[in-house]
Amino acid sequence: MLKLEEVAKRALITGSCGLIGSEVCLHLSKHGYQIFGVDNNERAVFFGPEGDTRWSLERLRAQIPGYSHFDIDIRNRAGVIGLVEEVRPDAIVHTAAQPSHDRAAAIPFDDFDTNAVGTLNFLEAARRACPEAPFVHMSTNKVYGDLPNTIALRELATRWDYDDPAFANGIPETFSIDQSKHSIFGASKVAADVMVQEYGRYFGMPTCVLRGGCLTGPNHSGVELHGFLSYLVRCNIEEREYKVFGYKGKQVRDNIHSEDVANFIVAFSDAPRRGEVYNIGGGKDNSCSILEAFALVEEFTGKRQKYVYLDQNRVGDHICYYSDLRKMKAHYPGWSITRPLREVFSEIAGSWKTRLVVA
Ligand SMILES: NC(=O)c1ccc[n+]([C@@H]2O[C@H](COP(=O)([O-])OP(=O)(O)OC[C@H]3O[C@@H](n4cnc5c(N)ncnc54)[C@H](O)[C@@H]3O)[C@@H](O)[C@H]2O)c1
Repeated sequence: MLKLEEVAKRALITGSCGLIGSEVCLHLSKHGYQIFGVDNNERAVFFGPEGDTRWSLERLRAQIPGYSHFDIDIRNRAGVIGLVEEVRPDAIVHTAAQPSHDRAAAIPFDDFDTNAVGTLNFLEAARRACPEAPFVHMSTNKVYGDLPNTIALRELATRWDYDDPAFANGIPETFSIDQSKHSIFGASKVAADVMVQEYGRYFGMPTCVLRGGCLTGPNHSGVELHGFLSYLVRCNIEEREYKVFGYKGKQVRDNIHSEDVANFIVAFSDAPRRGEVYNIGGGKDNSCSILEAFALVEEFTGKRQKYVYLDQNRVGDHICYYSDLRKMKAHYPGWSITRPLREVFSEIAGSWKTRLVVA
């Protein structure tokens, strides 16, 4: 039987040991929530030992008073329904996922069952047990498929940028998610994204879809197939060769610190809307190309970045992507990016230095 505190609001966070999930657990705990985490360390199955998140579980247990952990696979429908029924959370934040483009092609059933069906399991469990609880879902900019690559671009010395004034502030939520190549991962995330919107529009639940750019931070276990900035910094510190896949290394990503993502989730949970969609990333100010990322990491570590350039780009990879943050700021004026890019780099480098020495 669970011990439920009478006074505290209860938050159920899936993927609680992952990058975003763990940050959200810590954040919501500071905001007075009792935290219930769900994570079966599937990241170690998807990515091998380097993706292992057990260190993160230990951190949650050490830092969150009364943290309850559930080693449940989100594909286990009966388990999910039973858990949500028992906890009856006041807020659900769904971050558990198979998060990699490239990995998905090798494991399409695991990818779809986790990303699409696992999301449906939680939505339906919430509808039955706690339909008024804000439900925040982490989606991805990969739902736009490779359509952003059709925007006119200009080539600058170290990066690509949009050459169409309509996108001067980045990609807005109105951009089409249809009729483009998404990757198997992007398609399973589209299914979840639309289903979360539908539970908001059709059933009137307070759901929210966050389409992430590059979400990162010091607590990321970046690997080659997922978590580019964290992985790049790790390669630099360990003097490993980083592989650049096409686009002259000038491909652009917008990077947001996981704490800024958590801040937004708190803002939404405090004043939820129904069936909303937001593009959440670092925006133009926190964007960089791979070449620019090399230069920045070298500044923080003093080590030259070793890399190899491969002509072939990753399938469906964006050439230039940064999020238009104006809708988020209009709906939640108290929210803004608090960590500029250089600070994000500095924190990631600091964290890897400590973690790699300890390991
Ligand atoms: N990190 C990014 O750059 C980024 C960008 C865009 C979108 N997102 C989305 O944000 C969400 C969180 O991403 P993240 O970077 O924190 O990923 P992550 O891999 O660090 O965390 C996901 C967690 O979910 C757990 N998990 C996976 N499958 C599970 C299952 N079947 N049952 C129980 N637990 C399971 C994993 O063990 C892992 O700890 C994902 O939906 C991802 O698609 C991330």
